[in-house]
Amino acid sequence: MPTGLEDELGDILQKARDGKSWSQKDLAQAVDLPLEELRRMERYDLIPPEAIIARLAKVLDLEGQALSAIARNAWHPKAPVPDPALDLVCLNVFMGTYPVKCYLLRCSATGEAAVVDTGANPEAIIQKAREIKVKPSKILLTHAHPDHAWGLDLLVREFQCPTWIDEREPRPQGTRDFQFVKDGEVIELGTLKVRALSTPGHTPGGVSYQVSRVILSGDTIFAGSMGRANSSWPDLYRSITETLFSFPDDTALHPGHGPATTVGEEKRHNPFFCGKS
Ligand SMILES: [Fe+2]
Repeated sequence: MPTGLEDELGDILQKARDGKSWSQKDLAQAVDLPLEELRRMERYDLIPPEAIIARLAKVLDLEGQALSAIARNAWHPKAPVPDPALDLVCLNVFMGTYPVKCYLLRCSATGEAAVVDTGANPEAIIQKAREIKVKPSKILLTHAHPDHAWGLDLLVREFQCPTWIDEREPRPQGTRDFQFVKDGEVIELGTLKVRALSTPGHTPGGVSYQVSRVILSGDTIFAGSMGRANSSWPDLYRSITETLFSFPDDTALHPGHGPATTVGEEKRHNPFFCGKS
């Protein structure tokens, strides 16, 4: 069964308002709607008629048809084609009730492996690593939020390996063995070359990891939406449009939440970006 989208209409409206530094009241006035109706949309209590979705999209610089498709639950990204150069195991785990994704990345040629984010579930990663008979030699973190970085102590005790993170992130607890990753740096994993891409905006030191035609993108972009711009909305927008979208359309995007997608799918269907050059 496909993973549901991370963001619904309500999330997208909030994030688009955030990009304009608008309050709910500002948006309600801009589209001439009662404030309570907008509040209900953002609480996932109300899907408005098409004409109102079109008005909201227009004032928020979103693409109307793409927004409407997500509001009606009528779009789901096509799954990327697996890349034969690598094995990517996605673990669908939970922090409390919140679904998170973390990954085991393995070089098909040599079997060398890395953990990408902890998903706050080190036990699940250790169990999967034992099951597929790998001992990861690296832990690559996209950012330091607890749902991506909690549980390092157990992973480090099991795998005895360093952790890569951008120096601009807070230091997650559980290890002192950090390697500070720089934009463009190449991390070797067997015969794979894993390139760190600086993708700030969700957090100041957000990193995506690109290997072959696959990008593990943390909370930078979600299928049909973008991450929450906790540190900078313009930085996050640029991280997506100038960094992630610089890769070919068939490049897989594996986010920290929600389904996998591709650069092409997001360029064509993500209401924040489609229809813009
Ligand atoms: Fe996050």
